[in-house]
Amino acid sequence: MRNRRAALAAIAGAASLALTLSACGQSGEGGSKEGEGDAKGGTIGIAMPTKSSERWILDGDYVKKNLEAKGYKPKLVYGEDDPDQQVSQVENLITQGVKALIIAAIDNKSMNNVLQQAKDANIPVISYDRLILGTKDVDYYASFDNEKVGELQGSYIVEKLGLKDGSKKGPFNIELFAGSNDDNNTRYFFGGAMKVLQPYIDKKQLVVRSGQTKLNQVTTLRWDGGTAQKRMDDILTSAYKSERVDAVLSPYDGISIGILSALKSDDYGSKSKPLPVVTGQDAEVASLKSIEAGQQTQTVFKDTRELAKVATNMVDAALNDKKPELNDTKTYDNGVKVVPAYLLKPVSVDKSNYQKVVIDSGYHKASDLK
Ligand code: GAL
Repeated sequence: MRNRRAALAAIAGAASLALTLSACGQSGEGGSKEGEGDAKGGTIGIAMPTKSSERWILDGDYVKKNLEAKGYKPKLVYGEDDPDQQVSQVENLITQGVKALIIAAIDNKSMNNVLQQAKDANIPVISYDRLILGTKDVDYYASFDNEKVGELQGSYIVEKLGLKDGSKKGPFNIELFAGSNDDNNTRYFFGGAMKVLQPYIDKKQLVVRSGQTKLNQVTTLRWDGGTAQKRMDDILTSAYKSERVDAVLSPYDGISIGILSALKSDDYGSKSKPLPVVTGQDAEVASLKSIEAGQQTQTVFKDTRELAKVATNMVDAALNDKKPELNDTKTYDNGVKVVPAYLLKPVSVDKSNYQKVVIDSGYHKASDLK
């Protein structure tokens, strides 16, 4: 990207040099000034995946605010979890002449053609939270340490069940859920969690009664809570008679809420049948309320205010031919190139610390949880 921008800047510079020289005999300095000014007030396209989840609404708002603070005009669109709709939205943004794109893809492999158009128009592309796969036309990746998210979920289960300190040996029954198979994050979350859980499954201290342990058996298309609820219902009916589920690995709060609905319909949460440990991610309000009520057990907080800042800085750097701050240039291979990334730290949150981490930090208001 830097090359094509540099090439264009050179052309613009040469043109402007010719003009200025003929007009008033000054040097070519105006070329780079013009490039900067051009980018400054420019419109930046933001394509978010869905409004059905609170986190993406917050992401959209924060990215907008950060771009505005740096003098850009944001144009924010939501794809309603429909990959085709998102591709045509991005196409429209390119036609409207955006200077850069920030994209949280719905389907990580659907973007190749449209990003070729972005490249042809010299538009830098930031892959936001979810890595876009199979194309060289993505410049930077702004995200969290996604494997760590899974590790936090897995470790939480191990700790809560008392397996870690050896105070309890099990066996405990666990069921596994993963995210959408078209989201690159899914395999990182699941991989990170299984790194922690697999040794206990191997030692039979954790038992997956459904037998569904492979990633392709446990994914949840578009992270849909209803789909997860149905799968949990089916598992409870087919694999649990007098036995009890002790833990459920859930990768995302919307999925956790679906799983909890299935469990509650099967009488979990009553005196004689306590709810299992249920993990999550995103610290969404519904899940924080559920945690406060003693239902969902944990979530992973990812401060999307920081993510929005990182993405905005990447845009700003790319448009000014500077290198943004990066802290990972090895992990995120999209099949065509390793995309240079900045990864933020996720934080495990439960009843004991959500007030401090999520409320006191101003991410959600205490009144939102009423
Ligand atoms: C993932 C994201 C998670 C969660 C999920 C469902 O890509 O990293 O934090 O939001 O999508 O929206």
